[in-house]
Amino acid sequence: MIKEEKVFTISDESEEKQKIPDPCIMVIFGASGDLTKRMLIPSMFRLYCENLLPENFEVLGFSRKEMNNDSCRKAMKKAVDDFGDRENIPAGSWENFEKDIYYMTGAYDDPESYERLKVQLDKLDEEKNIKGNILFYMAVPPDTLPVILENLGKSGLNKTKEEYSWTRIILEKPFGHDLDTALLLNKKVNRYFSESQIYRIDHYLGKESVQNVLVTRFANGIFEPIWNRNYIEYVEVTSSENIGIEGRGGYYDNSGALRDMVQNHLLQLVGYAAMEPPSVFDSKSIRDESLKVFQALRPIKIEDVEKHVIRGQYISSVIRGKNMTGYREEEGVAVHSRTETYVAMKFYIDNWRWGGVPFYIRTGKRLPTRVTELVIHFKSTPYRLFKSRNDIAESYNMLVIRIQPDEGILIKFAMKVPGTEFKVQNVNMDFHYSDLLDIKLPSGYQKLILDCMLGDSTLFIRADAVEACWKFIQPILDAWKKYPEIKVYGYPGGTWGPECADDLIAGKDFVWRYPCKNLSDDGNYCEL
Ligand code: BG6
Repeated sequence: MIKEEKVFTISDESEEKQKIPDPCIMVIFGASGDLTKRMLIPSMFRLYCENLLPENFEVLGFSRKEMNNDSCRKAMKKAVDDFGDRENIPAGSWENFEKDIYYMTGAYDDPESYERLKVQLDKLDEEKNIKGNILFYMAVPPDTLPVILENLGKSGLNKTKEEYSWTRIILEKPFGHDLDTALLLNKKVNRYFSESQIYRIDHYLGKESVQNVLVTRFANGIFEPIWNRNYIEYVEVTSSENIGIEGRGGYYDNSGALRDMVQNHLLQLVGYAAMEPPSVFDSKSIRDESLKVFQALRPIKIEDVEKHVIRGQYISSVIRGKNMTGYREEEGVAVHSRTETYVAMKFYIDNWRWGGVPFYIRTGKRLPTRVTELVIHFKSTPYRLFKSRNDIAESYNMLVIRIQPDEGILIKFAMKVPGTEFKVQNVNMDFHYSDLLDIKLPSGYQKLILDCMLGDSTLFIRADAVEACWKFIQPILDAWKKYPEIKVYGYPGGTWGPECADDLIAGKDFVWRYPCKNLSDDGNYCEL
């Protein structure tokens, strides 16, 4: 029998000691892969250096590659050197940490490998006094997931070992390729694991600044009364990256920006920005409220997709004197690929709070800068009493929640320009997390791995939310398939994407916010 876990309640951590998880073994499927090297091991090592891991914590890598404990430890050391945070690492930490890393070679579709895994887990459990707690981390390509789930189920590894122990599984995105495959995947994983054992990870929810959207909204009295259609003109989410696809052509060409960024990360962010205040702050209530937002997304009719969604693909360009390849020239990308590296879209949330307020999402690769922000554009004053200095919309207030980089919050408001006349100008009130000198933001993976070990599923995606998001996205995929004549606009790398995206926000004074107009010489974020 698979035991239900209790709903995790968030308490006032400031008055409590930091919680340390139970002893456990983390089994990483895909231990020789990129994600393990870039994210998982560096994050776990950081947690170790900050004394946030339990004393009895073992990592058991499992993958097809021939390695042993020693060669795996060496590879992980290199990963930490290449990708880890090097600040404040106490001497000797790696040497102590690596003693708890083990490796076994196995084939994902071979039942015998799972029998060996079981023996190895039992041995470690006994030797290291783990008390039966196992966390499976699926850092594998999506097509291998079903066979692993099946073998875990058949070998009984999905079951909790003892009455008070736990077995959990972390699933990486993508959760399916479309609505049908997501439904199938959920069915498959739910066949072997109960929903309370499953942790679907979306690293955006692990970002400090994303969680702060909830605190900004629900811990301040001043925002919530105006956080609705009476005061808000439109809401904008921009997530731009200045990198291209970085050698991930094989994956990306089959995915595209809509699946890669919008269906998961950006809709999750919209969920936090738009949800109702939960009556209690626990994992169930938070996830129930964001689900209601996804369920209220107004479906975009197939015939309307062309009007509401713009797609683009970066073409070759020269950025600061350097020739940059176009998407179709990237390795692993089809020569005539029509996969989008850019999406801009307009949609509505049909509920009492948001009725009639347009939401805009824009994301792309090879844009001028790396920035993710949530922008609340407030309605203007009923009429303009004063002249504005620049003849632009000075009477609109704006709240910008900067998710990254330079995490923080900016409020734009009008102020009198010093002088004899009553002219106004917009000025900024700006909070930067970096001003909190002694605070170092943990990476999304650190936060989420720790939460999972603590049994807190608040920041993980539930099956129903995955399905609701795919349901909203599916008509767009269907339209692009059914009407190939819907344009894929080419945009030169280093620009803000197809110009026609500006027409999505059509209205007097309404435009996308451009955090920086063009690529600055140092490629840095610049506030305008
Ligand atoms: C990943 C996408 O999920 O998120 C990548 O697969 C993207 O294509 C990345 O680059 C963006 O994450 P972040 O944290 O750098 O904004």
